[in-house]
Amino acid sequence: MEPLGMTTVFLMTCFSCLLFSAWRSKSRTGKQPPGPFALPFVGSMFHLNPHNLPESLEKLSRKYGPVFTIRLGPKEVVVLYGYDVVKEALIDQGDDFSGRGILPLFDKLFQGTGIVNSNGETWRQLRRFALTTLRDFGMGKKSIEERIQEEARFLVERIKSKHEQPFNPSSFLVHAVSNIICSIVFGDRFDYKDEKFVTLIDVLEQNNRIQNAIQTMLYNFFPTILDHLPGPHQTMVKNIEAVNTFISEIVTDHQKSLDPTCPRDFIDAFLIKMEQEKGNAHSEFSTDTLTRTTIDLFFAGTGTTSTTLKYGLLILMKHPEIEEKIHKEIDHVIGRDRSPCMADRSKMPYTDAVIHEIQRFMDFIPFNVPHTVIKDTKFRDYLIPKGTMIFPMLRSVLYDSKEFPNPEKFDPGHFLNANGTFKRSDYFMPFSAGKRICAGEGLARMELFIFFTVILQNFTLKPVMDHKDLDISPIISSFANMPKPYELSFLPR
Ligand code: HEM
Ligand SMILES: *[C@@H]1O[C@H](CO)[C@@H](O)[C@H](O)[C@H]1NC(C)=O
Repeated sequence: MEPLGMTTVFLMTCFSCLLFSAWRSKSRTGKQPPGPFALPFVGSMFHLNPHNLPESLEKLSRKYGPVFTIRLGPKEVVVLYGYDVVKEALIDQGDDFSGRGILPLFDKLFQGTGIVNSNGETWRQLRRFALTTLRDFGMGKKSIEERIQEEARFLVERIKSKHEQPFNPSSFLVHAVSNIICSIVFGDRFDYKDEKFVTLIDVLEQNNRIQNAIQTMLYNFFPTILDHLPGPHQTMVKNIEAVNTFISEIVTDHQKSLDPTCPRDFIDAFLIKMEQEKGNAHSEFSTDTLTRTTIDLFFAGTGTTSTTLKYGLLILMKHPEIEEKIHKEIDHVIGRDRSPCMADRSKMPYTDAVIHEIQRFMDFIPFNVPHTVIKDTKFRDYLIPKGTMIFPMLRSVLYDSKEFPNPEKFDPGHFLNANGTFKRSDYFMPFSAGKRICAGEGLARMELFIFFTVILQNFTLKPVMDHKDLDISPIISSFANMPKPYELSFLPR
């Protein structure tokens, strides 16, 4: 990480003041959830850690209970802390809580369309379409599973070409994972050396990094001021425009060569849907929403899965005895000569448990992606006004100490019965739950299973230092938990 400059320190300070600036619960028509009461401006800075907001929120939940209010600048946010309230909101009252709380930055970037950052009819139609299309029907000759297996073979070859030299695996993993989206959306993967592809991924990666920058967070409080200032938020806008152009060109090519009886990929399926809905004034299917939806799949589907793989490899190096057990299970069920496939998973409870535990332990998006209530909502004894931003804290579910004893410890036993069979848990919520649950869950779980097993079928992981010295704690960040950068060697088995 870059050293903290004075500006960053200053901005961090502003941010922490803003986040926990004096908040007094006002009674309106109904009772609003309680929250920290009139904290003195300076006092909050000493009590609350801007470097570890999830921890600060845990403390607040101990004081105020599972439903409480904080202030993000001028905005009130209701935090849901613990399995019971998260489930009650996202599942039992799923419709009320199905809105997306859109931060000003994302509104600027995505303009309320696509799937992740949209609401209402736009969201409903585009999400439904994406779910059915990703479910594999009528999209070319290759199944999604075959596309992942194909990519996994390319990844293995690329790793072999390193000849056991240690390296940081980030870009290899990002390229492989984005190629799955390319294959689904554009119909084909790209060569790892393809210049356009490498540029596309660099741009997406840069936006992911900027998204975590504190200056970018500030945009969410003062959008009108920052709109007029230079800074990383402006770079993000330019980057999105570049991706737009890239995708638009591919869409134009697809339009020219489209055969409506034989869709090759997601874009073809979307173009056919556009044609079918031509007479419908309420249709949300246009080349504009196609581009936005495609960008969403890249953003939501690349960093998430590749970071999980990257974190997982680090955790496995920390625990060689666990890696060893996976090797044995792979040799027993799959052998060395064929590609792993999804049918193998049910025969591999240990590997399955480890992958679940990786996702639980890394707690990728501690706050969840913000939601909002779509109408004035009665929740328990409270009344939450329409439009209030909601944080259904995934961390509070994944680190529940009754369901997962010793939650701070990495232990595949959290997902195994005493007899070694796989133990499922309702608390396994890395993809969230309810109406907004990750639209790529099925795809992501296929990718994780096939990539992890292919890598461990072919290689033993070797850290550059003693495994006892590896640090598997995350870089503390505001949005997503990333592993600290590391290098490793892959030794052929
Ligand atoms: C390990 C990998 C992944 C994790 C941990 C993950 C997690 C999440 C989470 C927590 C949300 C927010 C849910 C909510 O608002 O309640 C989400 C939304 C979403 N994810 Fe994923 N995701 C992953 C992979 C993917 C992939 C591969 C795709 C690509 C197809 C994808 C597409 C989406 C979309 C489109 C949404 C927005 C859903 C909506 O707003 O209706 N995700 N994901
Ligand atoms: C293993 O244990 C679980 C729960 O304890 C039980 O439901 C399952 O039937 C057992 N399976 C076998 C094969 O013994």
